[in-house]
Amino acid sequence: ALVRTAPQDLAGRHVVVSAGGTREPLDPVRYLGNRSSGRQGYALARAAAARGAQVTLVAANVTLPAPDGVAVVPVETSAELRDAVRAAAKDADVVVMAAAVADFRPATSAETKIKKDADGATRALELVQTTDILAELSAPRLRAGQLVVGFAAETGDAEGTVLDHGRAKARRKGADLLVVNAVGGGRGFGTADNDVTILDGNGDVVAVAAGSKDDVAHAVWDAVLLRG
Ligand code: CTP
Ligand code: CA
Repeated sequence: ALVRTAPQDLAGRHVVVSAGGTREPLDPVRYLGNRSSGRQGYALARAAAARGAQVTLVAANVTLPAPDGVAVVPVETSAELRDAVRAAAKDADVVVMAAAVADFRPATSAETKIKKDADGATRALELVQTTDILAELSAPRLRAGQLVVGFAAETGDAEGTVLDHGRAKARRKGADLLVVNAVGGGRGFGTADNDVTILDGNGDVVAVAAGSKDDVAHAVWDAVLLRG
């Protein structure tokens, strides 16, 4: 039988990929989370391993099986994800932040289970912003020449199109590449197919890709290799 193997064009490179969605505790049994499945991050890790890279996959609350030949570091919160990504990134050539990282976490996490009030009173939750891991990885780089890649899920709104928002984010974040994913209308989260535009740090389009998460993953590594 004919065995198809991917070109080994990432051989000799160490890549770090974050995947999944963080959970920020409210008390021992509750958290603030998001709906990220981790599938795009896992596809990125699988594609990189198939192309010969040494892969560290920092996985936040993902239930998928570990891809072959990939070192998985499980994490739960955005703070744990930050520590694990930074530790792995110290000797990495490329870091891809595909995880959906909480922007806010509860200001405090109760040590014991929060109980409801008998009188049915409403309750406010105080939130504090988390560290922007991608922005922090981008300036200054943990390692000279390290390539940093971010993801952005966007919808168009009254302020601008998906691409307008993506461009502004690309310029703000300081990463080398930003993979902009159009979400809403059945695209993006939890779906098999993706529609992405890959921007550079100036917000200029370097590639477009549509297809499965595996197709998108390979397009991202192609764009990384074009950067050197
Ligand atoms: N990201 C991160 N740390 C955070 C929040 C986001 O590293 N605390 C990363 C994500 O992993 C992704 C990129 O930043 O690669 C863009 O995330 P996104 O949520 O689209 O951008 P934000 O800057 O958080 O802007 P907003 O949610 O307000 O659109
Ligand atoms: Ca965000």
